[in-house]
Amino acid sequence: YVIGADLGTSAVKLLLVDQNGEIAQEVSRSYPLIQPQTGYSEQDPEVWVEQTIAALREMLDQFEGDPGEIEGISFSGQMHGLVLLDEQYNVLRHAILWNDTRTTRQCQEIHDTVGKERLLRITKNPALEGFTLPKILWVKEHEPDIFAKATKFVLPKDYVRYRLTGKLHMEYSDAAGTLLLDVGRNEWSHEICSLLDIDDDFCPPLVTSHDQVGTVDARVADETGLSEATRVFAGGADNACGAIGSGILEEGKTLCSIGTSGVVLSYEGLSDKDFHGKVHYFNHGAPEAYYTMGVTLAAGYSLSWFKDVFAKNESFDDLAAEVGSVPIGSNGLLFTPYVAGERTPHADASIRASFIGMDSSHARRNFVRAVMEGITFSLNESIDIFRKSGKTIDTVVSTGGGAKNDDWLQMQADIFDAKIVKLSSEQGAGMGAAMLAAYGCGWFDSLQDCANAYLKEDKSFIPNRDSVDKYKKLFGLYQDVYGQTKELN
Ligand code: XUL
Repeated sequence: YVIGADLGTSAVKLLLVDQNGEIAQEVSRSYPLIQPQTGYSEQDPEVWVEQTIAALREMLDQFEGDPGEIEGISFSGQMHGLVLLDEQYNVLRHAILWNDTRTTRQCQEIHDTVGKERLLRITKNPALEGFTLPKILWVKEHEPDIFAKATKFVLPKDYVRYRLTGKLHMEYSDAAGTLLLDVGRNEWSHEICSLLDIDDDFCPPLVTSHDQVGTVDARVADETGLSEATRVFAGGADNACGAIGSGILEEGKTLCSIGTSGVVLSYEGLSDKDFHGKVHYFNHGAPEAYYTMGVTLAAGYSLSWFKDVFAKNESFDDLAAEVGSVPIGSNGLLFTPYVAGERTPHADASIRASFIGMDSSHARRNFVRAVMEGITFSLNESIDIFRKSGKTIDTVVSTGGGAKNDDWLQMQADIFDAKIVKLSSEQGAGMGAAMLAAYGCGWFDSLQDCANAYLKEDKSFIPNRDSVDKYKKLFGLYQDVYGQTKELN
């Protein structure tokens, strides 16, 4: 067996996976967000460790075999969160998370000091509030006493892994989201560090996602019931692990994942393509590979907002069941899903959503379909950027809430103009972490071999030509709405 541990924003989820890719056990433990003021989002790293240990204990309590049969453990983690450590590697303050938006000024400072062009050339990404470097600069400026004691920074899952092994590392797929990694050269950028007066030693040693970094420390073995021989592998960022766990492991493969936010992610074999910072460009968890990614900030969140306001007592399944009877285009109703701002392609935290074209004959089902269409149009903006840069997007693996409803899956096929594949097991990031451990343990010659053995297609959806044409026209109208509503706030 191997364990895939996904350290998410709301919970840590553990999967126990056997050599055939079957899930033998699942355990989850949740933890709160700390939001002392608007735009702030933090968590206590000690709570991640406590809950991960408690979840491992629960898993081992239920496990009927010998703990020695669990050969390896690896991690997937929420990206970008800043964990600051002192000389003894004690945590200096709560972690500042990916969804914290206090750092607009620090992003500007990075662009001014490093230069947008240079930043894009080295890190492949522009400075966004969610990324780690602006958070480092924020602490330096606002909490100088704490910053003076900081000797190293790590990301959330790296800290938990450190506590399980006593070994401190970061791996490339998460390091890519810090804005301090030279993504093409796979090393920390001395140039960016020195321009911003950050000591090179502040950055921890780098490893590859399937590298073994150690074994389970004796005290943790005692607390959890794991064997001290259990091998611990570096793991990857949640999006990189989501890509691995959905089989996005070769050129041409693309993932659409609709959760609270939505992600369209595409495999990239090269480190030197130029997307001009329009989409994120990060190291993959697969060796020597990359992925590009666009984010819809309020994907499932737009639907849950609509449900909370207009259909509180109904389930998502009830709402989704209504959309099949509504024609393409929702009888002239168009929705832009910006209820919490938008990332790709606008990087605009203050834009807000709209319904356009309301008719007195419209019923709730028209609105539900319009919301789903609007979310899918937003995700199609990322696909559009990929295609315009020369990428071929003909098959998209769909996961998350967007894959739970056949009408929505067909809508994705028609809007994306691509075949949509739904997998039979959708464990995404947790499975990706388990696959890194399985590969690290030497069970497979490559992650692709592991994916071939573990991931099965459930069903697929083929674009309907007539629907594709109708949606192409509507997508053009959708794209016009942003500029027209931008000034509303
Ligand atoms: C990616 C991002 C999120 C987090 C969520 O850039 O900010 O997807 O990784 O955990």
